[in-house]
This record gives sequence, C-alpha cells and structure tokens, in this order.
Amino acid sequence: MTVAIGLGVGTKNTNGEWLEVLFPAPLYQPESATAQGLRDALELPTENTTLTLSDDQLAKLAETHSLGEVSVQAEKLSGSVNPIALVIIEEDGTASSTPEVYLKLHLISHRLVKPHGINLDGIFGLLPNVAWTNKGAIDLAELPQRQLAARMQGELLEVKSVDKFPQMTDYVVPSGVRIADTSRVRLGAYIGEGTTIMHEGFVNFNAGTEGTSMVEGRISAGVMVGKGSDLGGGCSTMGTLSGGGNIIISVGESSLIGANAGIGIPLGDRCTVESGLYITAGTKVIMLDAEGNDVDAVKARDLAGKPDLLFRRNSVNGRVECLTNKTAIELNEALHANN
Ligand SMILES: CC(C)(COP(=O)(O)OP(=O)(O)OC[C@H]1O[C@@H](n2cnc3c(N)ncnc32)[C@H](O)[C@@H]1OP(=O)(O)O)[C@@H](O)C(=O)NCCC(=O)NCCS
Repeated sequence: MTVAIGLGVGTKNTNGEWLEVLFPAPLYQPESATAQGLRDALELPTENTTLTLSDDQLAKLAETHSLGEVSVQAEKLSGSVNPIALVIIEEDGTASSTPEVYLKLHLISHRLVKPHGINLDGIFGLLPNVAWTNKGAIDLAELPQRQLAARMQGELLEVKSVDKFPQMTDYVVPSGVRIADTSRVRLGAYIGEGTTIMHEGFVNFNAGTEGTSMVEGRISAGVMVGKGSDLGGGCSTMGTLSGGGNIIISVGESSLIGANAGIGIPLGDRCTVESGLYITAGTKVIMLDAEGNDVDAVKARDLAGKPDLLFRRNSVNGRVECLTNKTAIELNEALHANN
C-alpha cells in the first residue's frame, strides 16, 4: 500500500537543488486507485519517487479528475512561478530526497501521523541548512548577494533563522492551537488540539502533545506529552539526539513538570515533578509512605511510566523523594481555552 503522496511547491537554489517544499494537503495512505492512477498518468514505476513536475505534467494531473484531491491540488498549483514537487512514498524506508523528508515532516505536523509513526532515519543529511527569510528560503551561499540586491532596491532581507528545519507555522497551522512565538515550533512537531505554547515553550520535530496542554518548557525531539499535562516555565524533557541518552522520554496524561524542572525518564499519568528538580534515569529516589516514612530506595528509571507520583527534592536534607501524588493538577480552563 502506498504510504503517502505529496504535491507541493518549493524552492530550489541556483544549482537546481531543493531547499524546501510546502505540501498544502499531503495524503497519508491514499486509496490504491489514486496512487495507481497517478503512476499511470505520469508513467511512473511503483517505487519511492521525487519529481519536479513540468507544466504539462501538472496540467495532466489537473485534468485527470479521477485522481480526486491530487487533481484538485494540481489545479490550484498551476501557474506557480516556483517549482512543483511530486513525492510518492511507496515504502517507509530511509528517505532519499529533500522533498521526501519535507513530506514526512508535513505528515506529522498535519496530525496524519504521530511522532515515531514514520521513518525519519538519515533526514539530517537530506535537509540543507537554509537562511529562512521574509523572502523565503535562500541557500546560504547565495545569501550575501541576495542581501546586497535587496538593499540596492531599498529593501531589507530579514533572516529569521539559519537552520535545517523551518518553523512549522510557515507550512501548517493545525486547528485549535495557540503558539505565542511561532519560531519556537519546528516543522515536524505534532501539536495536539487544545495546546497552548507560551513564549518559553519549544517543540522539536517528531515530538509534541496529544491534546490539551500548556507548554512553557522544552519538548525535545522524540518526546510526546499526554493529554492534560503541563510543562512549567523553562522545564526540560531530555532528548535522545545528543549526549548519549537512549531512553525515549514521554509524559503521561494530567501530569505537571514544574518550572525549571526536568525529566530523563518517561513520566506516568497524574505525576508531578517539583519546580527545579531534574530527575535523570540514575537519580536515587527515596520512596515515602503516607506518613512520610522511608520505605525504599530505588533508581528513577525503575519508576518510569508509573502513575500518581510526586517527585521532590527534600529542602532540608537534599534527598530526592517520591510520594503519592494526592493533588494531581487540575488544568485552569480559562488559561487553556484556545478559542
Ligand atoms: C512539589 C509541589 C507540587 C508541592 O506542592 P504541594 O503538594 O502543594 O505541597 P505544599 O507546598 O502544600 O507542601 C506540603 C507539605 O510538604 C512540605 N514540602 C513541600 N515541598 C517540600 C520539599 N521540597 N522538601 C521538604 N518538604 C516539602 C511542605 O512544607 C508542607 O509541609 P507541612 O505538611 O508540614 O505543612 C510544589 O512545590 C511544586 O513545585 N509545584 C510546581 C508548580 C509549578 O512549577 N508550576 C508551573 C508554573 S510555570
């Protein structure tokens, strides 16, 4: 079964290499008739394909109405001054082109695929480092000339960022979200309906929130946050991209990571981490009973995913302690309202 189809418009550098592609309506697991019809119309083999479409090819797709949404998109893209990309993913292996990587990132940000639901192996090598400007994506080697040309026209070419990933909202704004600083959410983030991301919040690619959440901390690549959980100001979820960490971190439902706290273990449902406390997998934790007596000493990794826990650093003796979490957070409805 075909994994995905994307018809989009993008930018190439002066060498004709793709810098980025916007896919307005990517298709995930399209009907087999659509995929077959598309291959027939353009005489393509059944394999992963990335093509720059000619005007004739685009017109052909536009008039082949049996292709449904693909035909509608082709019609909308006709007349574009920027190049048109067609990507067909037949097998979800390691990507082999820049447009294919962009399609995979779109699938996540369009909420068609959850983080970890599509193969992102090797994407860094296919994503060029790009100057993201108010005039679109510009190859770094071409930037000085473009900046000079803009000034000579009396204009300023503003470089918003220099990165392999663009900000998500330049490609898709999913329904029911608030994002105070759009530069803090990368394409490939999965932002659940009802999530608010305040200025201090950050969401990397292949990471995000399932539903209603208040995010004022960092959601690292690969981390998924369950419904109703909050990330306090400046808190951290440990990523797996650098530093040797290989446990995939997640946060359960209705949990709270306090301000400036952090987690290096998957957190269960209805858990709280005290402000300022960073729990790593090897942190020694003293388990307390309801009367506050020591009952056990464990490593934090043994508590991974367990529900109803409150982690705190004892302010008198410095030990990290774990109690039953009696006051699971209740989200402030007014604060969380997105609409
Ligand atoms: C850890 C936390 C949840 C505890 O809050 P709480 O459950 O309401 O606990 P309280 O502050 O009412 O304290 C209960 C008792 O535990 C004690 N206690 C609390 N934290 C303690 C600590 N770190 N060490 C020792 N004792 C502590 C209190 O002194 C109190 O003792 P008492 O029974 O003798 O009066 C809270 O301090 C916290 O860090 N919340 C995170 C808030 C946050 O960061 N939100 C995001 C904002 S952006």
